[in-house]
Amino acid sequence: MNVLDDIKKLLGDDWTRFERFFREALQNEVELLNTVNRYLLDHRGKQLRPVLTLLTANSFSACGQPALVAAAVVEMVHTASLLHDDVVDNADQRRGAASVKRIWRSNIAVLTGDYWFAQVSQMMTQYKETRLLPWFNSCMLAMSEGEIWQLEKAQKLDITEDEYYQIIGRKTAAFLALSMACGAIAAGVDEATVQRMYDIGYTMGMAFQIRDDIFDYEQHNQSGKPAGNDIRERKITLPLLYALQQAGTKERKAILRHICRAAKRTRSVTKVIDFVHRQKGQEYAEKVMMEYSRKAVTMLHELPDTPYRAALIELAKFMTTRRK
Ligand code: IPE
Ligand code: IPE
Ligand code: MG
Ligand code: MG
Ligand code: MG
Repeated sequence: MNVLDDIKKLLGDDWTRFERFFREALQNEVELLNTVNRYLLDHRGKQLRPVLTLLTANSFSACGQPALVAAAVVEMVHTASLLHDDVVDNADQRRGAASVKRIWRSNIAVLTGDYWFAQVSQMMTQYKETRLLPWFNSCMLAMSEGEIWQLEKAQKLDITEDEYYQIIGRKTAAFLALSMACGAIAAGVDEATVQRMYDIGYTMGMAFQIRDDIFDYEQHNQSGKPAGNDIRERKITLPLLYALQQAGTKERKAILRHICRAAKRTRSVTKVIDFVHRQKGQEYAEKVMMEYSRKAVTMLHELPDTPYRAALIELAKFMTTRRK
């Protein structure tokens, strides 16, 4: 994880202040809540979104409290969404360890997620960061729409490539977009620039989610999440979607039957993975991912030439090379 570690070093004091700020916001007198929060703090992820926020803010001006608040709230929304996501996706593993849903069950995971979401509004009110509010609202609406749309498609197994892009745009890219837009808002830039940062974050976010979807087809991936879970949950993501487009009617029907059985039979999961490899589904997804990443790099060159811009460019490339 060298790219991110180096970038956190570049952020220096801003990063240390963010970490303290984030930790302190989560003290609570309810013991169980504190226990779960501590578990989450001990199993931190990459913290990519607050990195994006702080880099964007620094690209325009020195970081002040508004940028720290923005960074803290994006990581809170992210944590809340993962707590809920593992319930929705029935996932027992997260960040290389047991998920909260697995250890404390779904009820605690859902309620802790609600608590983290509530902390977000609490913090924006406390620090009077109401400028961020409309951006957060539309992002959270998009996320819920994307997640529900994805479930609808999983029931019907009839997703098109265009629908796939719209779904990952809502459930993931809109959030990376928000993370960058918030940094720009905190730096006090004009509205057109905020919107442009949003668009760049969105483009990066598309590459980010496609990389995530490829992980599911890598048997020994280091993502800390189990391979094959999307298949077990009937989620047809880009590698499989492309493979299905390549197959003849008979094979497509057979694979769809395997997807329906995958939750109960490991053999069906393996069949689907083999099929995707055979039809070069991963290669296709990688190609699309690279296009998004390259586009983001080009757009980032519009920013003032600073070490923060260079770091953002590194990150846009990292979206495609990351191993977790
Ligand atoms: C996981 O996000 C959820 C997706 C949108 C794919 P991250 O990969 O950023 O999760 P952590 O926080 O680093 O574990
Ligand atoms: C996550 O998508 C998007 C969210 C809204 C949290 P995934 O379900 O693919 O994320 P992982 O693979 O579990 O991290
Ligand atoms: Mg999910
Ligand atoms: Mg998931
Ligand atoms: Mg995933």
